[in-house]
Amino acid sequence: MNKRKLGNTSLQTSPIVVGANVFGWTLNEKESFAILDEAFEAGFNTIDTADAYSRWAEGNKGGESETIIGQWMKERGNRDQVVVITKVGSDMGQGHKDISEKYILKAAEDSLRRLQTDHIDLYFTHWDDDKTPVEETLGAYQKLIQAGKVRYIGASNLSPERLRASLKASQEHGLPRYEVFEPGYNLYDRQEYEQGVAPICQEEGLGVINYYALASGFLSGKYRQEEDLNKSVRGGGIKKYLDARGQRILAALDSLSEKHAVSQASIALAWLMHNPLVTAPIASATKSKHVQAFTEATQVVLRSEDMELLDNASAYTIPS
Ligand SMILES: NC(=O)c1ccc[n+]([C@@H]2O[C@H](COP(=O)([O-])OP(=O)(O)OC[C@H]3O[C@@H](n4cnc5c(N)ncnc54)[C@H](OP(=O)(O)O)[C@@H]3O)[C@@H](O)[C@H]2O)c1
Repeated sequence: MNKRKLGNTSLQTSPIVVGANVFGWTLNEKESFAILDEAFEAGFNTIDTADAYSRWAEGNKGGESETIIGQWMKERGNRDQVVVITKVGSDMGQGHKDISEKYILKAAEDSLRRLQTDHIDLYFTHWDDDKTPVEETLGAYQKLIQAGKVRYIGASNLSPERLRASLKASQEHGLPRYEVFEPGYNLYDRQEYEQGVAPICQEEGLGVINYYALASGFLSGKYRQEEDLNKSVRGGGIKKYLDARGQRILAALDSLSEKHAVSQASIALAWLMHNPLVTAPIASATKSKHVQAFTEATQVVLRSEDMELLDNASAYTIPS
């Protein structure tokens, strides 16, 4: 499988990053191992997790996903073949987000222990706490990089202002730079990223790995009406997509799915892989057939008329 360079780093990722928020949530350890085995056998090499995954699930406290990945890498002896992405800053029970130096240095040790590794390939600011000076956060990462515990850093969910301020501070103070950005972005949810940080990512040459690539499953076409929402524990979050624009997007996906003889999910992922604003989409799989759809997505060639059909169906109006 061809690899893609993540921004200015030396990291090479498969064209789809394996999302890990389902490990310890909708998948137990055994099921997670099966998905990871299948994905890696197919050639996918990058995993996106976070310390907080999957804290929201009944009985969890956070760290479950990292623990599963750590155990899997240990049992398979494949740490050096995996690009490990994890994140810091979410509420882990303290009641607020935190990207202060003290917190990051402690959280990184916890992640390393759960992942059973001595380094994180790409360490992300998961959420802004809107108060820690950007220099302090970047200074914490500098210490971790100097100690060999982190190779590169990235950011998710930062406002355009805080991302710009961080990039400026890196340049002015010789601090490490966010080299990869992780926005929520898919065929339905386009506007926030395209009108927000995308121009900064382009200007600054940041790699982009986008989450919710399948709009939590909506873009697979399995949810068409309200009665379909109980098809998964995640169904409740899909309701917002069941509008006229969502139906137009599904119609375009249906037509290209038939034309290319692959699933709608594969077409939705292929649109992202052909999109110049994205390096590699992140998507999570809970079944073998999902991993197969990811593989098919990497093989689909969308022509300009296909891209145009999807772009037009998902066009949004910019408020004046
Ligand atoms: N940085 C952030 O703040 C942030 C936030 C959210 C997520 N993320 C990352 O992004 C990753 C992906 O997010 P996500 O899992 O929430 O959303 P997603 O990738 O848009 O949706 C994945 C879900 O869609 C369903 N699915 C996948 N392939 C399918 C197929 N071929 N056919 C039918 N259904 C399919 C599965 O759900 P079912 O099991 O319900 O079928 C799967 O769990 C996460 O694992 C995480 O690593 C990051």
